[in-house]
Amino acid sequence: MEQEKLYQLMNSLTLKEKIGQLIQLSGDFFGNDNISTGPIEELGIDNEMIQYTGSILNVSGAKNTIKIQKEYLAQSRHKIPLLFMNDVVYGYRTILPIPLGQGATWNPNLIRNGYEHISKEASKAGVHVTFSPMVDLVRDPRWGRCLESTGEDPYLNSQFAKAVVEGFQGDLNHNQLASCVKHFAAYGAAEAGRDYNTVDMSERRLRQDYLPAYHAALEAGAKMVMTSFNTIDGIPATANKWLMKDILRDEWGFDGVLITDYAAIKELIAHGVAVDDAHASQLALEAGVDIDMKTACYANQLQPLLKEGRISLELIDQAVWRVLTLKNDLGLFENPYRGADLNEENYMRTSDAREIALQASREALVLLKNNNNLLPLDFKTQKIAFIGPYVDSKFLTGLWAINGKTEEIASIKDVVISMDAPHVTFTKGCDYLDDYSKLGKFGEFVSNFKINTDDEIKKDLQEAIIIAKESDIIVLALGEHMLESGEAGSRTQLGLPEIQQCLLNEISQLGKPIVLVLFNGRPLVLTEIENKVDAILEAWFPGSEGAQAIVDILNGTYNPSGRLSMSFPYTVGQIPIYYNSFNTGRPVAVHDDNNRFASQFLDAPNTPLYPFGFGLSYSQFSYNNLKLSSNILSIGSPITISVNITNTSSIAGTETVQLYVRDLVSSVVRPVKELINFEKIFLKGGECKTVTFILTEKDLRFINKDMFYQFEEGVFQIFVGHSSQEYLSSQFTLIKH
Ligand code: NOJ
Repeated sequence: MEQEKLYQLMNSLTLKEKIGQLIQLSGDFFGNDNISTGPIEELGIDNEMIQYTGSILNVSGAKNTIKIQKEYLAQSRHKIPLLFMNDVVYGYRTILPIPLGQGATWNPNLIRNGYEHISKEASKAGVHVTFSPMVDLVRDPRWGRCLESTGEDPYLNSQFAKAVVEGFQGDLNHNQLASCVKHFAAYGAAEAGRDYNTVDMSERRLRQDYLPAYHAALEAGAKMVMTSFNTIDGIPATANKWLMKDILRDEWGFDGVLITDYAAIKELIAHGVAVDDAHASQLALEAGVDIDMKTACYANQLQPLLKEGRISLELIDQAVWRVLTLKNDLGLFENPYRGADLNEENYMRTSDAREIALQASREALVLLKNNNNLLPLDFKTQKIAFIGPYVDSKFLTGLWAINGKTEEIASIKDVVISMDAPHVTFTKGCDYLDDYSKLGKFGEFVSNFKINTDDEIKKDLQEAIIIAKESDIIVLALGEHMLESGEAGSRTQLGLPEIQQCLLNEISQLGKPIVLVLFNGRPLVLTEIENKVDAILEAWFPGSEGAQAIVDILNGTYNPSGRLSMSFPYTVGQIPIYYNSFNTGRPVAVHDDNNRFASQFLDAPNTPLYPFGFGLSYSQFSYNNLKLSSNILSIGSPITISVNITNTSSIAGTETVQLYVRDLVSSVVRPVKELINFEKIFLKGGECKTVTFILTEKDLRFINKDMFYQFEEGVFQIFVGHSSQEYLSSQFTLIKH
């Protein structure tokens, strides 16, 4: 529709019809199921307002969406279509590895391709907007939503933010979704990793580390932004004018739709900045929030607020205009059903989509340990016992794959029994958890777990010991219960569930080689487990094709290439722990008991168990001949950094070459290392390749002491290598002229 016509349309709406556009309700208001991700309460919205509602949350399926849209339009005076928004977070029916696993691929192009397929699947199911990507930087694995983030690094997160938006949106044709980047801002920095908790940090840190990924998503064209639940500097994001107006709208020029997170307007009351619904609505509207997700605040309060002169019609109109513009950009006025297709099944899980998801899962898996080259295994000849609750599990997709179907997921056992593996045995050994009560009512929605009796627990364990004794090698498939991470999945103990830990202890006493395959939505603390096993394969929640990917790595069909995008702590007490930290005034290179007044712990190292960028391969790579084209870099005269990488093994493999920099002296303290580039290369056995990076002054900019994003002259150290801890190093000087 032409802008002029759209404008006329907006002006022809009554106030109540306008407000309707600013409301998002869930499916139960439209005779559909309610998928709830927040507290459920009676909203108390009148029927007329329900009829005017502009968008709908988490309803999908072509039949559903077409029916709802048809009925809605039939009773609508102006025929303004409903927007269907959905948490298509990392998959629809084809499900990618969780974003923390995607981060470990260090392959944004592959991930972009994966999201293109997901976008098409969801679009055929009638979805218009996805609440993804979540780009919250996270340095605290106690936070359950690490699962939805690509990790602790601003640069890597920004690369993925861009890739996901591009994958979802493309040119926004009817097979593609509009992307809503979330949660603005800094939600990943919740104190103590407790979900929804306070965030407080300096503006410099916010701008330097936390904001870049949201900005990258918007530069890639993301159409929407979602506010975060947390406060920033004492002001909840949903009422934070500085964040939403000064930075988002004015500084970054974002003119798309800003939606709250689930019930976040009403939560302004609990935060203690609003007295009641009216006050909360006023604060949110003044902050530039367009859509109220799942409360009655805007629905019931905007009219009286306007009448009392507490808000202006102009603010309402601006919000309505942005919503109508999005509907128009999506082509809904011309085709309110958009991509929805009653033959949607034909587009689900196509072989192309599954192939990309499989490759993403393979690349997401990280080999953390492989003593004596225990892996890969030979399924044809070795006697392998697969033990653990994840051996025959279909819960491989993590908490936020709400549109996936468990029956479409193969377990590890399903994959292995379809192969030529004559001496392989399987048993679960124990349940995921000894106590499901902590998962509360939420647990019941995906699981029917019963608590085992002591006898049943013993029986499971004995069976595991029997088959373990009869085998040459044991593969233990263990991990968090799927509901232990994800939203509201904060934890203070980051080991394996107790019952699984007991299983591991018992099995490890048998003295047989053990491969541990881990399932989890966050970095775990593996310090005590690590020395009881010979190999560890970190599988995250690997997605709908994950079991195949795991087996491909276990049997050597695929050579592992994943690299951690988040540090694995040595102990919970180190958290937050991240590679790009400051040096402090009293740094220590290694822990030293005789150096009392240094920045270290008395009882633990400063370093994590597994650092950022780390991951093993079945190949061996060596780095040499690091060269800089010049040791002076100036504006307009970039330098080229080159390094030779040799695969010193006979096994072909992929190496992720990482480039870090350190600004040695500047007006504000800079991190000991910052990732500024990387390249994934494939090397045949014995092959050597030269990788080059071009470095310009733009790569060296930072928020200086006056809060400008600029570089400063001086000496920089560079590190090129296999991880944030293994590298070659050199220096250069940056000058202006
Ligand atoms: C709450 C979550 O924080 C957010 O990520 C999600 O998109 C909304 N609920 C909608 O389900």
